[in-house]
Amino acid sequence: MPSNSALFPRNFRKAYPLAVRGEGCWIIDQTGRRYLDASGQAAVINIGHGVTEIGRAMAEQSSQLAFAHTTQFHSQPAEKLAQRLLALAPPNFRPGGRVYFTSGGSEATETAIKLARQFHLESGQPARYRVVSRRQSYHGSTLGAMTVSGNVTRRAPYQPLLAEWGHVAPCFCYHCPFGKEFPDCGVACASDLDNFLSASDVASVAAFIFEPVVGATLGAAVPPDGSVLDVGCGGGQFVLRLATRAPNLRITGVDLSPDQVKRATARAQHHPQVRFQVGSALKLPFPDDHFDAAISIASIKHWPDQSQGVYELIRVLRPGGLLQIAEGDRSCSLADAQAAVRLAVPRPLRTIALMALRTYVLGQGPDLDDARALVAHRRLTQARVERMPSLPMLLISGIKE
Ligand SMILES: Cc1ncc(COP(=O)(O)O)c(C=O)c1O
Repeated sequence: MPSNSALFPRNFRKAYPLAVRGEGCWIIDQTGRRYLDASGQAAVINIGHGVTEIGRAMAEQSSQLAFAHTTQFHSQPAEKLAQRLLALAPPNFRPGGRVYFTSGGSEATETAIKLARQFHLESGQPARYRVVSRRQSYHGSTLGAMTVSGNVTRRAPYQPLLAEWGHVAPCFCYHCPFGKEFPDCGVACASDLDNFLSASDVASVAAFIFEPVVGATLGAAVPPDGSVLDVGCGGGQFVLRLATRAPNLRITGVDLSPDQVKRATARAQHHPQVRFQVGSALKLPFPDDHFDAAISIASIKHWPDQSQGVYELIRVLRPGGLLQIAEGDRSCSLADAQAAVRLAVPRPLRTIALMALRTYVLGQGPDLDDARALVAHRRLTQARVERMPSLPMLLISGIKE
């Protein structure tokens, strides 16, 4: 770097070539030397360099209007881009999803942290502020983003400035933090979040942030693949959410209703790794030891013999596989039922929604003791029954022996 440069460099001891042009995956310096940009810089130049139609669109727009503050205006291009992003986003962002634009990733992380806090303030839970994250993650360079990032060396100099909200293990099979191997590990890294939450002040946790694929701080680490069974999948909403978030999972949904299975199959046409089939929870149409995880969400209250259903879920799990059942909690507090209604229902309908929830949903679910009996004396290690914090739900979980 010439000594008369006005640029503050990332490294004062390094000489930087002058980049003048980009072509696809190449960056060209002022001497004509070409550099293969194999990673798209910080894995963010996914469309390549020097894309003329993008440059043209930017020039055209900025010559009409470059900036109008969002406190006072919306604009057609921003609306169009927001619609486009929602169409690409996982299905639970639609309908009714909204996009908030920021100037970059760090600001997006800061905004997400603030949004999580604001959500809890407005839903009557002011004690929630901590955002839990994973070690060796990267969420940006600003102070809030560094607080939730987990690169120990990068955090070290700024430690006094950063809040300590808690970090859990990364999902990193190449150097497993637990010295285990997939699939026998039982996805110990996922349980680490559970363990952390039960050991720390869970009532102050506002959110969990993580990179589905960790970038440069872990070398593009993807989570392991595996097979998941969802029993009582209904129209497949949860399966499709899972498939969108974890495209490396093979997911099977089973439901007693042929109509629901037809609906779910139609919805899953763009997810080749997902399939749905008709089947009874009490006699699952799969061999023993078949799946890495077996889950059921808000379905067991409909099973005529819940004990037989749980037996079947465990039977089709491979040893070390994960069992997770979520269901409405008949023994939940009135405050938790009210909080759930407040989240989902507009004010004028809340009283009636609360009555319906307590009678027709929670009233048919297990209470804490029923749930404990369901997993007692099973082929499970770490069998657990717990109330989901501030929700009228029970979570039953365990690892098959
Ligand atoms: C997951 C994640 N979050 C946030 C950021 C920060 O983005 P920016 O550099 O635009 O501030 C990055 C950047 O690589 C990232 O990978």
